Amino acid sequence: MLKTLIVYFSQGGTTAKVAESIAAGLRNAGQKVQLHNIRDGAPRDIEAYDAIGIGSPAYYFRPAFNITEYIRSLGDLHGMQVFVFTLYGTYPGATGNDIRKTLSFAGAEEIGYFKCRGADFFNGYLREGYLFSADNPSADELRQAERFGKTVAGIMSGRAYMPPPEDPELPLMYRVERLLSSRWIVNRIYCRLFSVKRDRCTACNICVQTCPTQNISVDSSGRPVWKKNCLLCVCCEMKCPEEAITSPLSWPIFYPAILYNVNRASNDPSISHVKVRISRGETSRV
Ligand SMILES: Cc1cc2nc3c(=O)[nH]c(=O)nc-3n(C[C@H](O)[C@H](O)[C@H](O)COP(=O)(O)O)c2cc1C
Repeated sequence: MLKTLIVYFSQGGTTAKVAESIAAGLRNAGQKVQLHNIRDGAPRDIEAYDAIGIGSPAYYFRPAFNITEYIRSLGDLHGMQVFVFTLYGTYPGATGNDIRKTLSFAGAEEIGYFKCRGADFFNGYLREGYLFSADNPSADELRQAERFGKTVAGIMSGRAYMPPPEDPELPLMYRVERLLSSRWIVNRIYCRLFSVKRDRCTACNICVQTCPTQNISVDSSGRPVWKKNCLLCVCCEMKCPEEAITSPLSWPIFYPAILYNVNRASNDPSISHVKVRISRGETSRV
């Protein structure tokens, strides 16, 4: 029986849903499948598998840092069959391209690429009142993901594979935003710029539990302290019930970029959105 490992990152749950649907397609084709959300760790020893699936949401028009780092940690993938899936709320940019290139650079053989929309809980947009792709992945997209799993199983059993072309590059503004949220800048600069209002923080620990990379510890009074392994998901800020946390993305300097993105996406007829309100860590439709 063929064995496939699926490693993905999911903070909001949409990538996890797609991973489950792909796994269902592979299982229906008679395969054994292991799923890992990288939040909870993932195997580095991949010898036992016939193929690996890698899934990531778009984060700032590229894959989440933890996914790229995971692939690099696997070293030489010579001959390993791999497939890629990505989720995006507005524009995926280089997300799929980067993962595919990183895998190809490691010597892996691509056997599938799938992408679909996922509800975009990015705090910058939510604060402006917009939730993009709120109802994605749709039931139809999940069915497509399952079919994709079945197709991948067929290719693993010898069917031919024709790789889809690269995704198109984005306009300059988005590429600048991608540059401004590079791993180096996030680690060296933004990580130091999270702050907590000590008079509001109740040391509830929600930020610590929410952080997908265990990047938040607490000081002697139980208040959060940020370390240097941040994905800039800004979920600590978004989920704080006391609205005590400020991320660097909430600084006025980033406001024009966020407004540009919201304006562009909300006027793009191919992207759906609903109006929302975010208050005390909860997002509700209005
Ligand atoms: C910090 C952050 C950055 C994001 N950046 C992008 C982006 O550049 N392009 C895009 O289309 N979607 C972006 N999204 C939306 C996510 O890719 C999308 O909502 C995805 O479905 C989330 O996956 P998850 O629910 O598994 O966490 C971003 C979301 C967050 C939280």
